[in-house]
Amino acid sequence: MTTVLPPAPTPSAAPTTAPAGAAALAVALAIRTDLWADRVEYREESRWTSLLDPADVAHALDPSLHAELHDAQIWLLSWLPGQGTPLHDHGTSAGAFAVARGALTERVVARGAGGDPHQSTADLAAGRVRFFGAHYVHQVVNTLHEPAVSVHVYAPRLTLMNTYRLEETGLVRVGTERAGVDW
Ligand SMILES: [Fe+2]
Repeated sequence: MTTVLPPAPTPSAAPTTAPAGAAALAVALAIRTDLWADRVEYREESRWTSLLDPADVAHALDPSLHAELHDAQIWLLSWLPGQGTPLHDHGTSAGAFAVARGALTERVVARGAGGDPHQSTADLAAGRVRFFGAHYVHQVVNTLHEPAVSVHVYAPRLTLMNTYRLEETGLVRVGTERAGVDW
C-alpha cells in the first residue's frame, strides 16, 4: 500500500515526553508497514491491540528517533468498522497516534474559554497523526466501512486511562483502566 504522508513533525530535542517527538515516531512506524503488517489481527468481539517491542523496530528507524524510542511504549491497534473507544485520557502520559490504514474519527473534548467543555471532531485518513500532552481527552472510532490500523506511542508508558461521560457541565469520570489489570 502506498500512503502519501504529510511532513512529519520535527523531532524534538526536548525530553522524550515531548509530544512532537512521539508524533514523529508514530508516523515513522506507520509508514513502515513491513515492520508490523503480518502481525495485525482483526477481532469482531473487541479491538485488537499489540505492543511493539522497540528493540524489534529500532533498526528500521532513523537514528534521530532512537532517543524517543528508548522510553516509548508503542501499541499497534486494529479497528473494524464500528469499533472504537469511549471518551478517555491517558493519565500522565503524553503521546501520539498515526493512522496507518483506513481512517479513524477522533472526537476531542477540551475545556473551552470560561471552563465550558468544547468538542471538536476530525476525520483522520491514513497518514494523519495527532499528538497530545498529558490529560488529553478523546474518543476514537472507526466510522467507515473498511478496517483501520493505527500506531500509538506513549511516553512515559501508559499506566492508566480514565474514561468519561460528557455532560453539560463538563466531563464526568466514569471509570479507570489500569495497566496490568485491565490490559
Ligand atoms: Fe487515546
